[in-house]
Amino acid sequence: MSWTNAQRYRVITDAKDGELSVLEAKVAKSIWRQKYHIQPNYGLLNDPNGFCYYNGKYHLFYQWFPFGAVHGMKHWYHLTSADLVNWEEEGVALMPEFPHESHGIFSGTGLVNDNQLYLFYTGNHRDEKWQRRSSQCLAILSSDGKIEKLAEPVISGPPQQYTHNFRDPKVFKKGNHYYMLVGAQRESLEGCLLVYVSDDLKAWKFKQELKTNHDSFGFMWECPDYFSLQGQEVLLLSPQGLKPKGNDFQNIYHSGVFIGKFDEHVGYFDTDSFQELDKGFDFYAPQTTQTPDGRQILIGWMGLPDTVYPSDHDGWANCLTIPRELSIKNGQIQQQPLQELKQKRVKTTQHQIKVVSSRERLKTIYSEVGEYRISINVETAERVGIAFRVGDDEETVCLLDQVAEYFSLDRTRSGIPVATDYGTVRKITYQQSVVQLTVFLDQSSIEVFVNDGEAVFSSRIFPKEDSRYLEVFAENGTAQIEIKQWCYA
Ligand code: FRU
Repeated sequence: MSWTNAQRYRVITDAKDGELSVLEAKVAKSIWRQKYHIQPNYGLLNDPNGFCYYNGKYHLFYQWFPFGAVHGMKHWYHLTSADLVNWEEEGVALMPEFPHESHGIFSGTGLVNDNQLYLFYTGNHRDEKWQRRSSQCLAILSSDGKIEKLAEPVISGPPQQYTHNFRDPKVFKKGNHYYMLVGAQRESLEGCLLVYVSDDLKAWKFKQELKTNHDSFGFMWECPDYFSLQGQEVLLLSPQGLKPKGNDFQNIYHSGVFIGKFDEHVGYFDTDSFQELDKGFDFYAPQTTQTPDGRQILIGWMGLPDTVYPSDHDGWANCLTIPRELSIKNGQIQQQPLQELKQKRVKTTQHQIKVVSSRERLKTIYSEVGEYRISINVETAERVGIAFRVGDDEETVCLLDQVAEYFSLDRTRSGIPVATDYGTVRKITYQQSVVQLTVFLDQSSIEVFVNDGEAVFSSRIFPKEDSRYLEVFAENGTAQIEIKQWCYA
């Protein structure tokens, strides 16, 4: 359907009688509903927001447009969890009420202060000429579950020389002050971050544009995050407009990190090289939080802006990635699946196979929803692979190519195509003959962790329901493959 602005810019309480139940019924028939990823009940999900541990549980919000699979009036939808695995739905937390947020409650972060959860977000407003007006706003969640929004923004607009692409506040404390980093765009249409400072989280003063060693790096920087990890400082962001480079930046937009040093006095983040966080097809706008036991956990949107997904026709779009635990090794971020996910494992099947210049369809393991631990040992083969969700003309392939020295995820034949203008294969350079993969398969996604999280490939796939086989193959030689599968409850 094509959407008029009047249809797109409504809040959930404007739903017509029966409108949402019709949508829900449509969504219920979708064959791509996920079994264990966070997804919207209907409508469109995008960025994770306000991810935080507060009052004895995790709080996670996401950008949500209720009425269908299109980017329209954004609300914050609220979930809570004791373990990051089982989530309770708390419903809509924030929806537009004031003129400065009349066209959406955009992304932002959560920060615990005085036993309350401060939720910073961007108020998105369009004026009569449809010009964007952005402000940074605050809502406060108290321990009784009530949320109160401040009627006025805490920052009413960008400073001069920056456009109204000014959003996604990240707030944190360093030394004696609070800092806010806001995703921004110079009038020269280059992305950057703006630094604000406050002592009470309510009165904010513009300090300066964050200086980095990446002065001209895309046309817009979205969704900043900042945290310390293993004694180092990490700046995470989602820059838009980077050109593909080698195996990097193959999607429409990208997310990654700078590991460096933030000097808050001079507003300088000493950045080295930018590490793209995910090598798959669908990943954007991730956010992190720290667990009470000190782990830094990341969750991303397993989707991209300006991208059409097959589930759109079914009245819903997108999901979040599984949570990942971050660490730094050899100056690079490593990402491992959240330990607590193990509690979802119910049935284990194991299989070991030697493949000799052939392709084998496994008889005891199917591509079921769950987790797979796969070890590939290439002996003499040139290429070795494992194919998931195999059916008539369909497969999603993890491939280790010893000749061309790469590891890849190939969704050329994964089912209904998505964003094929950006290619259908994603690669990393890989020279070893052994690889360990941890794969998370859900109804319409695959997340592949390579060697304890040196690289992760997150992707949506839209195969037929009965494309359920699992196959392994070796070309021109032999390979040993070991697969351990845990189905998920
Ligand atoms: C990133 C983003 C944010 C914005 C939000 C709106 O995907 O564009 O910059 O706050 O989505 O939904």
